[in-house]
Amino acid sequence: MLDKISETRNNFDDDLSKVSDLNSLEDVRLKYLSRKGILTQFFEDFKSVPNDQKKLVGQSLNNLKTHIQEKFDSLKSEIESRTNLQKQSDIDLTLPGRTYQVGSKHLITQTMDEVKYIFKGLGFSLFEGPELESDYNNFTALNFADDHPARDMQDTFFVTPNFVLRTHTSPVQIRVMQNMKPPIRAIMPGKVYRNEVISAKSYCLFHQVEGLYVDTDVTFAELKATLVAFLKQFFGKDVVYRFRASFFPFTEPSAEMDVWWQPKGKEGRWLEVLGCGMVDPNVFINVGIDPEKYTGYAFGMGIERTAMRKYGIDDIRILFDSDIRFLKQF
Ligand code: PHE
Repeated sequence: MLDKISETRNNFDDDLSKVSDLNSLEDVRLKYLSRKGILTQFFEDFKSVPNDQKKLVGQSLNNLKTHIQEKFDSLKSEIESRTNLQKQSDIDLTLPGRTYQVGSKHLITQTMDEVKYIFKGLGFSLFEGPELESDYNNFTALNFADDHPARDMQDTFFVTPNFVLRTHTSPVQIRVMQNMKPPIRAIMPGKVYRNEVISAKSYCLFHQVEGLYVDTDVTFAELKATLVAFLKQFFGKDVVYRFRASFFPFTEPSAEMDVWWQPKGKEGRWLEVLGCGMVDPNVFINVGIDPEKYTGYAFGMGIERTAMRKYGIDDIRILFDSDIRFLKQF
């Protein structure tokens, strides 16, 4: 039996030297280590070894077993780590990486941010007011006559007889002037609401950025220069614009600014982007600022219209649709 044991050891070493992959290694395992393998058979035969030889044969049988198990295990882990490396080198580093979907700011938010940024550069501070506003701040303090058509239920969402969803950001001017002493140089962005028929041109909700500058000796020329500087920075140096005389109860004189809008392949037209003017003395009186001492200008621009002009959008409703195919483009 001792001879058989050493012969098996040699055979095993020989078999193992021919193993090249996990499949041929498995054959070796079945031959030597499985329940029906050679080792099991040896231990079976060991029972019939005469007692005086048991010690010697037992020792060399155990040695054989350890030898086979150790060699087998080490070759197995070697082959396994080799195939893992191979798998890793199968990765093609020239393939494009995985992309992850990242959200982005809505076009309106982007436009608001840009407007705020430009006016910040012109020295304006930022203020905000509530969307639910008193009738007094939204109309009365801004010098609207009691019978002004904007006070009509048709145009304004009245929440109670004395509170409205603000129809413009101008009431924030009132709040700022009530709480600050001139000089005041402020912009006031926010949502405004109007009870209008929804169409390509108007929506019941939109965004405005209000501007206000109050100091001694503020002139209309400064208003014009500031707005032109803004338009050039926002739309580019070549923007075509015009001032048009207009009327607002809270400014005198008043004007509107249009920019030329030229959609590709369509007829161009003027698009109104903002209203502006010199703060009416009655408004100063309503907030306790002396109109003999101070002058000021104010303006209010519609963000949707400005964004539409800049990005060539011709239907305002698409800005409120949350259609990801549209929003993804910006
Ligand atoms: N509040 C006006 C509007 O909503 C715009 C405006 C603001 C006009 C400030 C003049 C001065 O149409």
